Parts: sequence; C-alpha cells; structure tokens
Amino acid sequence: MTTIQLVIELGNFIILTVKIVLGTYDVITTINAVLFVSYKTRNMNYLTKKMISLGLSSISSLYVTKTAGEILFDGYEEPILSTLSWLPIPDVSDRFGIFYGKNGTIGTDGIFSMSFLNDDYFGSLLTWNYKTRTDFYEGHCNDIKGSAGEFYPLNRKRDRLVLYSSELCKYAELEYTEDVTIKGVRAYKFSADNIFDNGTTRPENACFCKGECIPSGVFNVSACRSNSPTFLSFPHFYGADPYYLNTIEGMKPDKKKHEFYITVEPILHIMT
Ligand SMILES: *[C@@H]1O[C@H](CO)[C@@H](O)[C@H](O)[C@H]1NC(C)=O
Ligand SMILES: *[C@@H]1O[C@H](CO)[C@@H](O)[C@H](O)[C@H]1NC(C)=O
Ligand SMILES: *[C@@H]1O[C@H](CO)[C@@H](O)[C@H](O)[C@H]1NC(C)=O
Repeated sequence: MTTIQLVIELGNFIILTVKIVLGTYDVITTINAVLFVSYKTRNMNYLTKKMISLGLSSISSLYVTKTAGEILFDGYEEPILSTLSWLPIPDVSDRFGIFYGKNGTIGTDGIFSMSFLNDDYFGSLLTWNYKTRTDFYEGHCNDIKGSAGEFYPLNRKRDRLVLYSSELCKYAELEYTEDVTIKGVRAYKFSADNIFDNGTTRPENACFCKGECIPSGVFNVSACRSNSPTFLSFPHFYGADPYYLNTIEGMKPDKKKHEFYITVEPILHIMT
C-alpha cells in the first residue's frame, strides 16, 4: 500500500493534490505530467508560450490514466515531452514518475558521516555526500546538521529537536510541545508543525524560499528533485495557510491524523 499526497502548482493557476492509497497495480487517473512543461515556461516570452500552448492543446490530454506504480516509481513515457524537446526547456526528460529511480534505494540516500563523541552532538550529521553544506537553498538553510534520525545525545531538553531529511534536502527543527506518557514511559513530544513555515512564524525559515515564497505549509523541494516542480505538504494541508484549503475541495485537516511528531524518552533520548 502506498499513501502519498502530491501537490503540483503550475504558475499561479492550478493547484492539484492527489491522495493515493493504493496498491501499485491499481489504475489511477491524474493530471498529465506534460503540464510541468507549461510550468517550466512560465517566465518565457509570449511567442514561445503561445507555441507551446498550441502544441499542448492539439496533442495532449490534461489527464493520464496509469498504474500507481508507473506514476510513483516506474515512470511512464510521455511522447509529447520528446516532441517538445527541440524547445529551450531545461531539465525535461521523456519519462515521468514522482519517485522515478527511487525504488529500492533505501540506504542509498547518500553518504552520511555523523559524530559519535559522547557530547551534545552525539548522532549529529557532520557531512552528507562528503559536504558540510548544500546549495539547494540560501544561506544557513543549506546547513547540514541535526540527527539523521537514529541517534541523539543523552539528556534531552525541552527545546528543539533537529533532524536532517535527505528527502527534503534540508534540516527540520521540531519544537517541544508537551510531556506525554507512552506505555508508562515519560516522554517529550516534538512537533513538526512549523517546518514548512515560509518565514512568517519562523523568520529563520525564509532562506528556504530561495527568493520566491509561497504561503506557509507547502514546501518547494524542486531544487532537490532535479528541478522538476515538486511541492510537499502534510496530508490535507494540515497546518498550512487557509489559502490552500480554500482553493481545493475536500480537504479535512485533522491534527490527530495528520500532524507529524516525534516523542523521545528524555534521559536516554530514545524514540518512544
Ligand atoms: C521495486 O523494486 C522491487 C525489487 O526490484 C520490485 O520487486 C518491485 O516490483 C518494484 N516496485 C515498483 C513499484 O516498481
Ligand atoms: C507566507 O506565509 C504566510 C502565512 O501563511 C502568508 O500570509 C504569506 O502571504 C506568505 N508569503 C508569500 C510571499 O506567499
Ligand atoms: C521552487 O524552487 C525552484 C528551484 O529552486 C525555483 O526555481 C522555483 O521558482 C520555485 N517555485 C516557487 C513557486 O516558489
């Protein structure tokens, strides 16, 4: 089973979310990837746009019907992308899949090195793919820091817990929210509610926008996906700007179902 929520924004016009809870052979109908081409051309001149628009209207369909496996992992061929390849559009391949090339890559998210000294940085990343910084975002947003998820220093405080996500190509700071008890074990709960903030609540997040901010709650990971326009949110735009809820029908964000948090036992700092 695969559960995924995908958000695609094309210029300022279409925002689409697809929630898939399926086996990989189930057939689904979704927006055609070829529309990414129109996103790519949003800053081009009128004539080029007109030509592409003409090309798209004559041969392509707005929707495609494929198996979930093709849409997610295997990718599917889109002839129109090759047809259009003579146009000056960067980074368009003739096969499209959201996680194309990612199947079976567990453990190959790159080379991580982490600190194992018994101090405040125990378990923290030192480098990712031999680098101490990335260039996906701007300024300190490119820092490689925080735990890779497995190990943490002893004696957690009620502060922020920093994780590094190679999926997002960024660190994420989870905030302490409350003490909880899980199966009799006392733990601190850290919530990820603000990790997709655009700098409004957390000014230090502004450098993730790379110049072009969008309303909070949706995160632009395009730079981390070979520049294919990809945006992530929590399911049902949980915690996001009402802008998204008002634009799309059928969203029902629910803290109980959709929030992301981590609980840790504070002394040994083990996830509970
Ligand atoms: C992923 O890879 C495994 C092993 O190669 C294969 O059995 C499986 O069918 C693949 N799944 C998809 C969705 O491509
Ligand atoms: C950033 O997010 C806030 C809160 O969601 C929103 O009011 C603001 O318009 C956003 N900024 C941009 C540039 O979209
Ligand atoms: C998303 O990020 C890409 C790569 O950094 C950038 O080119 C694009 O303008 C951004 N899009 C939006 C809507 O912020």
